Amino acid sequence: MNIQTISTQPFADQKPGTSGLRKSVPTFQQPNYLANFIQSIFDSLDGYQGQTLVLGGDGRYYNREAVQLILKMAAANGWGRVKVGHHGILSTPATSCVIRKYKAFGGIILSASHNPGGPNGDFGVKYNIENGGPAPEKVTEAIFARTKEITEYKLLDASDVDIDTLGESKLGGMVVEVIDSVADYQELMESLFDFDRIRALLTNGSFRLCVDAMHAVTGPYAHAIFEQQLGAPAGTVRSGTPLEDFGGGHPDPNLTYAHDLVEIMFKEDAPDFGAAFDGDGDRNMILGRNFFVNPSDSLALLAANAHLVPGYKDGLAGVARSMPTSAAADRVAQRLGIGCYETPTGWKFFGNLLDAGKATLCGEESFGTGSNHIREKDGIWAVLFWLNILAVRQQPVEQIVREHWQMFGRNFYSRHDYEEVASDRAKALVDHVQAQMPTLPGKTFGSYTVEYADNFIYTDPVDGSVSQNQGIRIGFTDGSRLILRLSGTGTKGATLRLYLESYEPNIAKHTLDPQVALGDLIAIAEEIAQIKEYTGMDKPTVIT
Ligand code: G6P
Ligand code: ZN
Repeated sequence: MNIQTISTQPFADQKPGTSGLRKSVPTFQQPNYLANFIQSIFDSLDGYQGQTLVLGGDGRYYNREAVQLILKMAAANGWGRVKVGHHGILSTPATSCVIRKYKAFGGIILSASHNPGGPNGDFGVKYNIENGGPAPEKVTEAIFARTKEITEYKLLDASDVDIDTLGESKLGGMVVEVIDSVADYQELMESLFDFDRIRALLTNGSFRLCVDAMHAVTGPYAHAIFEQQLGAPAGTVRSGTPLEDFGGGHPDPNLTYAHDLVEIMFKEDAPDFGAAFDGDGDRNMILGRNFFVNPSDSLALLAANAHLVPGYKDGLAGVARSMPTSAAADRVAQRLGIGCYETPTGWKFFGNLLDAGKATLCGEESFGTGSNHIREKDGIWAVLFWLNILAVRQQPVEQIVREHWQMFGRNFYSRHDYEEVASDRAKALVDHVQAQMPTLPGKTFGSYTVEYADNFIYTDPVDGSVSQNQGIRIGFTDGSRLILRLSGTGTKGATLRLYLESYEPNIAKHTLDPQVALGDLIAIAEEIAQIKEYTGMDKPTVIT
C-alpha cells in the first residue's frame, strides 16, 4: 500500500458558506485545492478511523474526478469503508438517508446545489455529520481553521476505482462499496407514504403529473418512484437524465429558472400537478394547474394535512421555519397546539430541533421542505407528501390552498432577489439600513408603523449556541415584515434578498396578486434601503 504525503499550502478562501464550500469549477481545479479542503475535513474530525463514510454528488462537472480523489484520500487517511453512489450519484436527501440507515460516521456531498454546473459553472463540497445533517457551525469553523494552516495531505497511490459497477472492492486497506443510488431512499419513502393510494391517483386515467428533474440528480429517483413504482406513464418525468452541465440550465426550481415546467403548468389544459427540483434534489417547487404554491404556504399546508399521511398520522411534535419564511406555518402550529420554531436561514439549524424531537416538519422560503425522516430538506419527499394529500382529499391543488387560506388567513409573501451585485455596493446598502435601525421603531410609512428593527439573533433552544447577524428584520405593528439579507450561497458578487410579508384575514382579498398586495411594503423597502440606487438595478433579477 503506497500512501503518499503531499506538501501543500493553504488557500485563503475555503470558508464554508450557508451550505458547504461552493466555488467555480476552475477554482476547484487549481492544484491541491480540493485535496486541501478534504484533508481539512478529515483533520477536524475525531475518531473516524475504521468507520464508514458516505460519498456521492449531483453528477455535475468534476463530480467523477472529485469522487476518485476523495476515495484515495479516504483510504490513505484510514477510513474503513466508503459507500459511494453508483456512477458517483447520490442526492443530498439520499445521502442523509444512507448515513442514518447504516450509522455511518459522516458523508461528503459533491454539489453546488442550485447553482449552474459545467466547466465554467460551480462545484461544491458539503460535509454531513452522523445524524445525516449538514455539519453545524462549530464543525465548519473547525474545518475552515484547518484550511488556513494545512501543510500536507495524504493520498493513496492507486488506480481509479470502478464506480459504474455495483458491489465491493478494496482500495488499500479500505472497502469501497458502490451502492444503488436510489434503493435505500425509495424504501424510506415507501415507509412514510400511502403508495397504494398514490398509485391509484396516478393511474386513475384522469390525473396528470409532470415532474421536471432539470437534468440534475433527481432524474433516477423520479423515474424509479413516480413512473416505475407508482405507475405514472413514461414521460411524466422530464429532463430525467443527469447531465454534467444540467443541459445548460440553472437547476433552481423557481418561477424563473424552471420556466419549461412553468409554461406547461400555466397553459390551458395543463396537468394537475407539477414539480421541479434543484441540482442535488433537496429543493422543490410545487405547482397546481395554473397555480403556484408559495414554499412558505407549502410548509403550512403539509403541517395542516399531515394527519392524512401514514408517516405523520400520529401528530407532529412541532414545526420549524427559517426566519425569512412566512408565518403561515405558525398559524397552523398554533391551531394544532404544537411547538413552532424560528431559525436562521440554513437547513443545519433544524438539526438540533429534529434530533431533540421538538420539530417534525421544517421548511424554508427557499423552496425547501423536509421532516424528521432525514436531516436534509427533501424534494421528492415533498412531492410524495403532496400527492398523498391529493390522493386522500381528491381536490385540485388550488382548491386545497384556497381552503387553507380561508381557514387560516393568507400570508402574502414574496422574495425579490438582486443577483450579482458588486460586493462593496451590497455591503454599503446593508450599512445604510443598519445605520437607520435605531431610529426606525415608531416611524410611520403611510399606514404602516415600524414596531421593531433588528438583526436576527438565534439562540438554539437545544444547545444554547448563539448565531448573530442572521438578517435585518423590520417589523410593523400589523404583523407585516420586511427582511433583508445577503445570500450565503452565491459565488459571483453579492446577492441581496428582500423578503416581504403581510397578513390578510379578509377572504375577499385573497385573490390579489402578491406583488399588488405587497405593493406598499415594496415601496417602503425601497424608501428605507434605496435598493435601486445601491444596486444600480431598476428591478429584481428573480421574483418569487
Ligand atoms: C441552501 C440551504 C438552505 C438555505 C438556502 C438559502 O439551499 O440548504 O437551507 O435556505 O441555501 O441560501 P441563501 O442563498 O439565501 O443564503
Ligand atoms: Zn440543493
